[in-house]
Amino acid sequence: MIPTLKSYKKLNPKSAVCILDEPLPADIPDGLRPALKRSLHPKAEGETSINLFHDGQWHILAVPPPKASEDRAEQYRLAGARAYAELKKYKLRKVQIHTGNGDDALAFAEGLASRNYRFESYKSKKDSFSLDEISLPEKTVGKDGLTQLSGLLEAVMYARDLVNEPANILTAVELSKRITEASKKGHYKVEVFGKAKIKSLKMGGILSVNQGSKADPTFTVIEYKSKKALNDKPIVLVGKGVVYDSGGLSLKPTANSMDIMKSDMGGAAAVAGAIHAAALNGLPIHVIGLIPATDNCIGPEAYGPGDVITLYDGTRVEVMNTDAEGRLVLADALSYAKKYDPKIVIDLATLTGASMRALGYFAAATMGTADENTQQDLMDAANTSGERLVSFPLWGVYDDELKSDIADMRNIGKSSLAGAIVAGKFLQHFTDYPWMHIDIAGPSFIPDALGYLPKGATGFGTKLIYQFLKGQNQ
Ligand code: BES
Ligand code: ZN
Ligand code: ZN
Repeated sequence: MIPTLKSYKKLNPKSAVCILDEPLPADIPDGLRPALKRSLHPKAEGETSINLFHDGQWHILAVPPPKASEDRAEQYRLAGARAYAELKKYKLRKVQIHTGNGDDALAFAEGLASRNYRFESYKSKKDSFSLDEISLPEKTVGKDGLTQLSGLLEAVMYARDLVNEPANILTAVELSKRITEASKKGHYKVEVFGKAKIKSLKMGGILSVNQGSKADPTFTVIEYKSKKALNDKPIVLVGKGVVYDSGGLSLKPTANSMDIMKSDMGGAAAVAGAIHAAALNGLPIHVIGLIPATDNCIGPEAYGPGDVITLYDGTRVEVMNTDAEGRLVLADALSYAKKYDPKIVIDLATLTGASMRALGYFAAATMGTADENTQQDLMDAANTSGERLVSFPLWGVYDDELKSDIADMRNIGKSSLAGAIVAGKFLQHFTDYPWMHIDIAGPSFIPDALGYLPKGATGFGTKLIYQFLKGQNQ
């Protein structure tokens, strides 16, 4: 389902051509040239409509240039998605991109490929159209650029598949199995702790959330260490792996807030995806992924509001709402991360409805204690990847929200305001290293296709963290 990425020396009319800039290729017939030129120079700057021209032999799409003031790569990803709609309409399964700019070609190809994703495992009748092949100009896009984009796309689709997979299939054990399976292709290590090991480690957050479930929890440790790793201390990634979140005994208020909760392991998918991409593309780094996984369900043994539980590091938490379960499983993993003496820990989690209310589907909220340079690196990675981040504060004034009368902490704020920040403050308690938290509740799973993103799982976080890891080499 990922189109094959190739390079071409000479255009071939058997494949559609997307023209991103001039000079027009020499092979284009004279008859089509004036109209193509007009289309590439629209009257309004930033004109986004893509026109298709064809004679008996060629199918050519003219892609006008974006406004100079706009984010160029993002505009070309979006243009790729618009071109995809045209290709689909005319059932053109192969496409060549013509441009003198390699970055434009890669961004455009990314948009095309991203839009071609669909999750059809359980459909008897599959979509008959799929884009099979994208060719980029050999002169402008090096072999490296092509291979890297292929690796990244494979990882994004892997993350999307994990998130789209329903929770009756993708249990915690199954999630760990799929991560193990993927590691064989990427040649990195995966170790899975089962329930017995999690018990012996006294990971009370994971065990408590899991109490209402028939299915076992898992704790997956992924490790990719390049022989050429440039960082002495590992970068640790932590991903929330709640494979289904009913809310537990504090049941979610509406059924339609529950029907998308198979996506509550979007953080886990992003961590697994980013490490997969790093390994496929051979980044010279040492990175570790930690994925605490369970569902949050109701059963005779379920943990309940008012319970006091003891987490991995010994902190006692008064559970005031069983739906604030993500922070409990993450707390165990964040404490466990200390043993690696990490350079930095980044967690990704579909953690709060509050972050989604603040930013919609368009961005994730981030907060943390890493130094300014690292925070800037993360922001740069967000801008390069098109996965937007907005910085939230972690001021001490929010600490009071989490004070408990009878234990060390409560798991929800007293006021129900600033929910994304209060959740961040809760996590901060379990960190003693440079740390960043990314709340992806909004952009991880979307109700309708958006630009180059498909409906459902987006794989959000995979590209962002991959870019961040790539930047850490320099
Ligand atoms: N998994 C949810 C957060 C979520 C909401 C993710 C919407 C994606 C879309 C999380 O476990 C949760 O339920 N959080 C509660 C916390 C509250 C009880 C303090 C929330 O945000 O309502
Ligand atoms: Zn919840
Ligand atoms: Zn949750």
